[in-house]
Amino acid sequence: MQRAWPTPRQRSRRPAAMIASNATETAMSNSITKPVTPDQRSYAAVLSDLDCGSLGEHIRRPSLATRSIRVGAPFTSLDLWCVDLDVTADALNCFRQGLSRDELARAERFHSDLHRARYIVGRATLRRVLADRLGCSPATIRLSYGRNGKPMLEGGRGHVEFNLAHSGGDAVIALADRAAVGVDIELHRPISDVESLARLVFSDVERRELKLAPDPVSAFLNGWTRKEAYVKALGIGLTAPLREITVSLSDGAALFSTGLRDRSASYWRLLSVPHPRAVVAVALGPRLDRATTTGWLQSKGELPGLNPAVNCHQMRHISTTMNGGLQRRNPE
Ligand SMILES: CC(C)(COP(=O)(O)OP(=O)(O)OC[C@H]1O[C@@H](n2cnc3c(N)ncnc32)[C@H](O)[C@@H]1OP(=O)(O)O)[C@@H](O)C(=O)NCCC(=O)NCCS
Repeated sequence: MQRAWPTPRQRSRRPAAMIASNATETAMSNSITKPVTPDQRSYAAVLSDLDCGSLGEHIRRPSLATRSIRVGAPFTSLDLWCVDLDVTADALNCFRQGLSRDELARAERFHSDLHRARYIVGRATLRRVLADRLGCSPATIRLSYGRNGKPMLEGGRGHVEFNLAHSGGDAVIALADRAAVGVDIELHRPISDVESLARLVFSDVERRELKLAPDPVSAFLNGWTRKEAYVKALGIGLTAPLREITVSLSDGAALFSTGLRDRSASYWRLLSVPHPRAVVAVALGPRLDRATTTGWLQSKGELPGLNPAVNCHQMRHISTTMNGGLQRRNPE
């Protein structure tokens, strides 16, 4: 495992607790079967060199977890950041300053002020967290995008992989070294018909487990967030053939079937992250090249993961159904 350590200037600003958690990574390497519990600590110091005053105060519910996780044979480090996206107007102006031109242009396309503000805070915090890891300034971070929109560091800088997810005013950012990483968060909420949703996105095995679950909504959210974290780690998102992937729905997070021919689930780790208002899942696995995605298991020889015409329809249907009770961001 390799870490990019901060510059001396950053090191002096790095929270003591963050340094301490790095030292304990090896000792915690067996945490792969246990839930990851973010340590409650302030990251005001990490945000302080935005030079906009004490922005850390506007980031409520700060959490950070650092762990060493076994993914296949090698270990990777995992850093998790929980972010409150709802900030004051003054703070929002400061966050806005950290964004690139294309991020600002995207922000302008949001219909809703609330969603625009949340997008800005999420992206600015992501830049800050990446800058802290890479030892550079947030403005110098260059992002590129995968075929299905997954943001990544241009040129694979520092072998750092990351992913971001949001639900309402809460976001989670996950960072990993030399491993694909995906994260998903869904706020706890009532869902009226989990069975019809499950027919769209769950495998037969998962649907059988859902029928037996004492709390079907929690079981559904466990399965959904784990599956979405996995397909986000792959970078394919909801265009993946979701019903060919199987995850656990109970408390212990696990991937049982990758949906990929000749790809063993044993190379992947799924983790549940305790959160006061939401279900949060993280997926870590080997980085896959594009050729691998042609290996999606297909009964009819089609490749839905690579056919946007089919999958946009499928994806919109799932998103609309999933977001029925939630306001989701829509920039277009
Ligand atoms: C990725 C995806 C699953 C996210 O769904 P969601 O539940 O609405 O959003 P989440 O909060 O979980 O994640 C959104 C974040 O994931 C990241 N992301 C975007 N696309 C991603 C992808 N393909 N893989 C992994 N992460 C992705 C972004 O950081 C995004 O947040 P940001 O734009 O504010 O930076 C969904 O948008 C998707 O399936 N995208 C693929 C779309 C596609 O290929 N469409 C083809 C035309 S219809």
